[in-house]
Amino acid sequence: MIISSLNASITEIECDAVVVNLFHGVSSPGGAAGAVDRALDGLLSRLIREEGFEGKPGQTLLVHTHGRLPAGRVVLTGLGEAGRLDLETVRRASSAALRRAREARARRVATIVHGAGAGGLEPARAAQATVEGAALGTYEFLKYKSEPDPRGIEELLVAEMDSSRMPAVRAGVQRGEVVSRAVNFARDLVNSPANHITPSALALLATQMAAARGLEALILERADAQRLGMGCYLAVARGSQEAPKFITLRYRPEGTPDGRVAIIGKGVTFDSGGLSLKSAESMVTMKDDMSGAAAVLAAMQAVAQLRPGREVLAIVPAVENMPSGSAMRPGDVVRAMNGRTIEIENTDAEGRLTLADALCYAVRAGCDELIDLATLTGACVWALGRVYSGLMSNNEELVERLKACSRVCGDRIWPLPLSEDYRYLIESQVADMKNTGGREGGAITAALLLQEFTDGRPWAHIDIAGPAFLSQDNGIIEKGASGAGVRLLIEHLCGGPAA
Ligand code: BES
Ligand code: MN
Ligand code: ZN
Repeated sequence: MIISSLNASITEIECDAVVVNLFHGVSSPGGAAGAVDRALDGLLSRLIREEGFEGKPGQTLLVHTHGRLPAGRVVLTGLGEAGRLDLETVRRASSAALRRAREARARRVATIVHGAGAGGLEPARAAQATVEGAALGTYEFLKYKSEPDPRGIEELLVAEMDSSRMPAVRAGVQRGEVVSRAVNFARDLVNSPANHITPSALALLATQMAAARGLEALILERADAQRLGMGCYLAVARGSQEAPKFITLRYRPEGTPDGRVAIIGKGVTFDSGGLSLKSAESMVTMKDDMSGAAAVLAAMQAVAQLRPGREVLAIVPAVENMPSGSAMRPGDVVRAMNGRTIEIENTDAEGRLTLADALCYAVRAGCDELIDLATLTGACVWALGRVYSGLMSNNEELVERLKACSRVCGDRIWPLPLSEDYRYLIESQVADMKNTGGREGGAITAALLLQEFTDGRPWAHIDIAGPAFLSQDNGIIEKGASGAGVRLLIEHLCGGPAA
């Protein structure tokens, strides 16, 4: 989809469909919808009454213009209660409208910026959200269809009538495009099957991205990881025929960097559970166990374009978790890069083993802030479902900053207590800790293990196991890979809502 902005009235644009909106409970449309209504001699307001269109978020109405506008059709989309308007509603409204236009086989669509009217949202943010809703809502994954039938919208024009608002709208549209391309890139990676997205494939992709975008790529092979003492990460790799690839990408800002942040993504390209084998049902979606990795790589793609002031080190300890004669066993003891030992109680708790060494690596690389994203625990899915990711951190300030980012970007997170009172659950008889803490509080005990490798630096762990892969369309993101965490990372790395 080609995305652009232009300074024009929506009533003048020649295209297949134009999108305007209506707040809940408004019977006679004003603003852009009002202008369209006048051009159609009141047809829009008549249909609003006759069809019982209430302006609820997600609700749409399609109207043929029969030559009374340069555009062939009008899509009216609901914005909900005026007093409850937020950016997520804008995304929902834009997604619903573009999906409706797509159903009508529209190729070229123009939209107004939703929700930026008088007393409304910031124009740049509203424009960004309008684009995000459109681009995320019409995502299609057709890579493995032998006869693909792309229904995609080819061109999206974001129209703003008020020229004084154009600079903000233009910037918002550009940001929205960068962000949604990154999210959809992550979705492609996660939707792709594990026989294609192997650790080597991820490493190649990262290397290519680095070359294309001016990032530095460094891939550590098994022997490099051995030399560095990454015994936990390597233990996970042992059962698989696929070579492990410890992937790092570095973004350096111009001038003196404003600190160095590590973003770490769990990159288990397939999680069979290993010798502690999963059941057939729970293994079905385990190609998604590299969603953290996908989020981190996608965020780097955006970072390379948005060029924030902080240095960013992306780390993906990519590996496949398989059972075999050479696989790690329950009872094995392994040693991480920082010397700490872990008793493997369950080989299906492999993510934390890979992240332990990745965190050590980030500490060794001199990062002053650590953020990891991981499809780490089923327990987090039970706790929060598929809407919110779990947030666990050793630093209140970082929690507050991430929460502020979450409120504007659309990736939802909810704090869980990272309390030492749960630490007894991962105490081991033979090693410094064991890799499982039982069913109860499973998301927290996993995080407590990770904390042992953070060297006390500001660190946030985001368990995306629930939202990473949706079992149902949520109105913006269709069933399947969601790109969870990409927007949160980008927002945070670019300074958050205050910036
Ligand atoms: N990748 C899984 C977690 C997961 C579960 C992600 C469901 C997405 C959906 C992880 O490696 C895992 O298997 N965790 C175990 C840990 C347990 C053995 C302590 C789990 O949650 O069951
Ligand atoms: Mn597992
Ligand atoms: Zn896993």
